[in-house]
Amino acid sequence: MAFPCYAVNLPSAPTEQDFRPVDENIVELGRLLFFDKVLSGNRNISCATCHHPRFGTSDGLSLGIGEGGHGVGTERVPGTGKARIKKRVPRNSLGLWNLGAVDQSILMHDGRISEADTYENGFNTPAEEWLPAGFNDLLAVQAIFPLIAQFEMAGNLNENEVIGAVHDRIDYAWPIIEERVRQIPGYRLLFVKSFAHIKHPSEISIVDIGNAIGAFVNHQWRSYDSPFDDYVKGNGDALTDKQIHGLALFFGEGKCANCHSGKWFTDNKFYALGLPAFGPGRTRRYNDIARDLGRMAESDDLDDIYRFRTPPLRNVELTSPYGHNGAFKTLEGIISHHLNPEVSRSSWSISQAVLPEIREFKKVDLIIQNDRLEMERYTQKLDIEPANLGEDDIDALTAFLLSLTGRSALAQSMIIPDEVPSGLKVDK
Ligand code: HEC
Ligand code: HEC
Repeated sequence: MAFPCYAVNLPSAPTEQDFRPVDENIVELGRLLFFDKVLSGNRNISCATCHHPRFGTSDGLSLGIGEGGHGVGTERVPGTGKARIKKRVPRNSLGLWNLGAVDQSILMHDGRISEADTYENGFNTPAEEWLPAGFNDLLAVQAIFPLIAQFEMAGNLNENEVIGAVHDRIDYAWPIIEERVRQIPGYRLLFVKSFAHIKHPSEISIVDIGNAIGAFVNHQWRSYDSPFDDYVKGNGDALTDKQIHGLALFFGEGKCANCHSGKWFTDNKFYALGLPAFGPGRTRRYNDIARDLGRMAESDDLDDIYRFRTPPLRNVELTSPYGHNGAFKTLEGIISHHLNPEVSRSSWSISQAVLPEIREFKKVDLIIQNDRLEMERYTQKLDIEPANLGEDDIDALTAFLLSLTGRSALAQSMIIPDEVPSGLKVDK
């Protein structure tokens, strides 16, 4: 099969040079930390619980079940008794592919963690000027924030010392977590062995913990060995006819590449797509409507209301459900939504999301849809123009997106460690 006759500009094939350099000595340590629940307030959840290799580095749920829950992915349940979760994570867990790329300078659905010199420490984060110094890069910085997020890893007030400290000041819990790690014999050895500057375990810091996890994520989840990459490098047979049709639509008439541009299929900018609203929302202290203001909550710019970051699309096949709240479990669903958000919203039902049956949350899920004023504001804000594509086109676009799945991305289960230095159970 030859290249399509449509004149389309394809992104060039990625190489190792597209990534920030990694200190190889600390990657293995980062892997163990990523899977170790000891970093969470109640020692019951790890990064991997919500970014699991079996679920494409995400969790298979629309809205994740954080600390207090049990199990992995779509089998995860909300727990029992006092530990039972009080709230779900308000947004869909993101996949972690290719985030170590040099041009990946902003993270999260609302971009609240980025490279910027707002606080004269190189990074703009919720910790503002209280961010400790010494991080290698953005992924290292990001890694210390889930640890202090109440519904992700920190836990609820009065349950443990970590969350109590966070309540006093955002940076007060990190010394408690580093002290925990310093006490574990396996980590004492590994940190001294892996980091040139650590001579004694008492020197282990939260910055080292972040640097190790960041190095692991950067190193492990580089992924650009997909059929699409073969095609870009000149193997015309790597894609089916349908996929080539989808590719032409993606970079042409469908205008997908206006936003999903470049090697990673994102411009890292923010747009309002008006996804069906549901769930607990990201409420703010003086404003507890179950809504999610998106980028605006971070930028304080009214123009950014309901905008979310364009997600990268490599390995998107593996990270269902889709959108910032996981409103769509299928690629067809989220693509159709782009083409006509209004029609999509009116025909949407919550069965298109993937939510575990939790009786007390069902009541909350659709509350926002009954808030007439909020829904009026929400439906008016759209940054996408309807495109006139039919069912066959959606089918072709879906087929094209499947060509972005890397071969090595499908073989990740061997990175799950049998055990971790704390001795706590690993989510398999
Ligand atoms: C309870 C589930 C949960 C846990 C535990 C968790 N995450 Fe996440 N992660 C999420 C969700 C949800 C998002 C998106 C949040 C948002 O944008 O508001 C996210 C976003 C991210 C991102 C940004 C990805 C991007 O494209 O911007 C990175 C990196 C990340 N997590 C790494 C980690 C690491 C490292 C840990 C452990 C220290 C961790 N996560 C623990 C759920 C979780
Ligand atoms: C105006 C910019 C823009 C255009 C054009 C655009 N997208 Fe998107 N896309 C986004 C944003 C922003 C999101 C996330 C929206 C949210 O979470 O609320 C998204 C989400 C997605 C997702 C879900 C990914 C995930 O991991 O959740 C897929 C798949 C997708 N887009 C494919 C496409 C296709 C195919 C086209 C062309 C028909 C397209 N997009 C055109 C901005 C755009």
